Amino acid sequence: MSPFAVTRTLPEDATGAALRADVLEGLTGRPRTLPPKWFYDARGSELFEEITALPEYYPTRAEREILAARSEEIAAAAGARTLVELGSGSSEKTRYLLDALTELRAYVPVDVSESALTRAGRALVAERPGLDVHALIADFTAPLALPATPGPRLVAFLGGTIGNLLPAERAVFLASLRGLLAPGDSLLLGTDLVKDEQVLVRAYDDAAGVTAAFNKNVLTVINRELGADFDPAAFDHVALWDAGHEWIEMRLRSRVAQTVKVPALDLAVDFAAGEDLRTEVSAKFRKEGVRDELGSAGLELTRWWTDGAGRFALSLSVAR
Ligand code: SAH
Ligand code: AVI
Repeated sequence: MSPFAVTRTLPEDATGAALRADVLEGLTGRPRTLPPKWFYDARGSELFEEITALPEYYPTRAEREILAARSEEIAAAAGARTLVELGSGSSEKTRYLLDALTELRAYVPVDVSESALTRAGRALVAERPGLDVHALIADFTAPLALPATPGPRLVAFLGGTIGNLLPAERAVFLASLRGLLAPGDSLLLGTDLVKDEQVLVRAYDDAAGVTAAFNKNVLTVINRELGADFDPAAFDHVALWDAGHEWIEMRLRSRVAQTVKVPALDLAVDFAAGEDLRTEVSAKFRKEGVRDELGSAGLELTRWWTDGAGRFALSLSVAR
């Protein structure tokens, strides 16, 4: 294997076909929804990186704090020779794990964002010539084919991205992830924790408007890929806390009554003034819930670390 290999596991036009299917289902259903994975074209990935540096957006800093303090413990417990990372993005925080995993032979970042994967992969091979980096352009909610790299494996799923899946989607995802692991392989999972509503809402509605631009970017993606005529200025960014589900919802609220055309789907969608399009949920967790969800998938939670302020958790679980 070359030091930096990129594999596209999606068949030709699978991305286009999946986008068409998701947009058709999401825009014709009630409430109107779109899956969050479509935020992440090159611009969306850049905007996400900007979000991680915002004063209001604490999760990245909190998770980095835990990784800086605990990576040696994580590495000793996992003893991994392959690190697989789902939704790896910039792989920036991953460096703590790469430094600590002394037996590591291969790093397999998996992401739908080709631009983020390529940029991160190139930087890593330049920094670490001995490391075999095998990037996978793939959707982690679909069945994954991992390269045949040496075990044991540690799968890292950082950033709280698991919270962007709905509970039923998480159950399917975790069960299928367990199917990829051998007994003794581990999962390192980042989960944002339930906390004060104001802190949460501010993290998703920052003063500089970067999260609003990230949210509206999904409209630009649909305009470009499906020839739609969404006017991003005709929608307001909304972030609200759903206390019943314990998740943040990001929405785009139509400022006026309008009809949006999506020629690739031969579709016209009427929005009433004030009607919402849900673009993301970001679930917040408690330790018992995380333990239960992992346990139901055959993963035993063995370690739980939080940052000093108790905002974010990293858990290690082992496949039994
Ligand atoms: N792990 C990084 C990035 C988090 S942003 C961090 O903690 O900072 C979420 C990342 O997951 C993005 O890079 C996005 O492109 C990717 N992503 C979102 N949905 C995905 C999916 N269904 N399959 C693969 N990657 C996905
Ligand atoms: C990637 N994911 C964990 C982010 C989150 O916090 O749910 C995406 C995001 N949405 C708005 N800001 C950041």
